[in-house]
Amino acid sequence: MPSSNVYSKRRQNLINQMGKGVAILKGAPEQIRTNDTEYPYRQDSDFFYLTGYTEPGAACIINPNDKDNPFTMFVLPQDPKKEVWTGWRLSFEDTATHFGADQALDIGEFESNALEAMKISSKVYTNLSHDKVHQYKMLDLVGEVRKVVQRTGGGPEGLESVGSLTHVMRLFKDEHELGLMQKAADISADAHSKAMQACKPDMYEYQLQAILESHFVHEGGAGPAYTSIVGGGDNATVLHYIKNRDKIKDGDMVLIDAAAEYDMYAADITRTFPANGKFSDAQRAIYEVVLKAQKAVIDASKPGVTFKELHDMDLRLLVEGMIEIGLLSGTADEIIENESYQEYFMHKTGHWLGLDVHDMGNYMADGESIVMKPGMVFTVEPGIYVNSKSKAPEKYRGIGIRIEDDILITETGNKNLTAAVPKEIVDIEALMNRD
Ligand code: GLY
Ligand code: MN
Ligand code: MN
Repeated sequence: MPSSNVYSKRRQNLINQMGKGVAILKGAPEQIRTNDTEYPYRQDSDFFYLTGYTEPGAACIINPNDKDNPFTMFVLPQDPKKEVWTGWRLSFEDTATHFGADQALDIGEFESNALEAMKISSKVYTNLSHDKVHQYKMLDLVGEVRKVVQRTGGGPEGLESVGSLTHVMRLFKDEHELGLMQKAADISADAHSKAMQACKPDMYEYQLQAILESHFVHEGGAGPAYTSIVGGGDNATVLHYIKNRDKIKDGDMVLIDAAAEYDMYAADITRTFPANGKFSDAQRAIYEVVLKAQKAVIDASKPGVTFKELHDMDLRLLVEGMIEIGLLSGTADEIIENESYQEYFMHKTGHWLGLDVHDMGNYMADGESIVMKPGMVFTVEPGIYVNSKSKAPEKYRGIGIRIEDDILITETGNKNLTAAVPKEIVDIEALMNRD
C-alpha cells in the first residue's frame, strides 16, 4: 500500500469516530537549542500519525463537515531566500498531491480557516500536547466562535484532545508500523551487540555511547530514540543516568539502555554485562533473578493477559529471587504488601512503545488494567538496583541490572522484536570473549 494510503486510512478511522466534530491540529513547534540555532526538528507524533508530514511550520484541518475540502494542509509558503538556508519547500499544489490533501494553503491562513471550520462542527479535537501557545489559541477560537453562533445556533460545544481517539488507535500497530518498528529494533539490537563486544575495562562510558549511536545513524536511523544511558558500576543503579562521562572499571557491571529511532518509530533495549566479560558470583546471582523474571513475563505475554498481571508476575519473581540470594528477608507476601522491595526495584515492568518511546495509550480503563490484544507493542524491563549506599550485603553493592526487550502481541502469543541481542550469561560471555 502506498504510504499516503496508510495516513488516509487513519484519517478515515478518525472521521468515523468524530461524528460532527472536526480535528484541527498543529505540527510541533521548533525548539531553540542556543541563541538562534534549533534542536533537530521532530514532528508531533499525533500530527505525523494522521498526515505523514515531517517538516516544521505545518497544521491541518480534518473536517468531514466540509464536503468540498474535508482535509486541508497548511504549510510554509515557498520562499527562495529562506529555502537557501533550510531546503526546498513543496508548492501548495505538490503538498496537496503528495499528502493526499484536498487543498494545501499558506500556514498564515490557518487560524481564519480554523474559525470557519469550527462554525460548522459540533466539537473541536486538537492536539493538547506540549505546545501551550497552540492550546490557548484553540481555546480562544472556540470562545470566539461561540459568540458568533450565539444567535444562529450550532458551533462547537467544547475542545477535546484528539488523543482521546488517536491514542487508542496508536495502541494497535498496523503492518506498515510493524515493519518500521522491526527495523528500529534490528538496528538497535546490532548496536548493542557491537557495544557489548567492544567493551573493555578502562573504556569511558561515552565511548560505548559513541559505538551505539554511530551505528544508529550509519544504518539510516534518525539517531537515539531517547537519551542513551551507559552506566558502569554504581552509575548503573541510577535509573536515568545520562551523563555517560565516567571510566568503566574492571569488575563493574555495565548497563546500557539505548535504541534508535527509525522513520519516527522507537525501539527500547537494555542489556547489562560485566565490563571484563566474565560475571562474578554476585553479579551472576542478581542477573539470574532479573533474567528469570524477564523471560517468564515474556512467555506470559499473549492475548487476554493484562498489564497488571504481567507486572504482578514480574514483581513476585523478583521478590522471591531477592529473598533467595539474600537481598531481602521475610516472606514474598509481606515484602510485596509493605513495598520494601522498592529499595531495589522501583519502576513498572514496561510501557507501550511506538512513535514515542513511552508511547501514548492508557494502561487502565474504567478502573481495570488494559487487556493485551494482537498488534500491541510494549517493553518488558525488570531490574534490580543495589546502589553503593545501600545496606545490602557488601558483595551486591554497586550493581545495577536491567534487561529490556520489545514485545509484540500476536494472535497466538508474542514476538520478541529485540531477541537478537544476547541476554543469556553464556551467550554474553561468548560474545565478549570472541576475538
Ligand atoms: N529507555 C527508557 C525506558 O526504558 O523506559
Ligand atoms: Mn523502556
Ligand atoms: Mn529503556
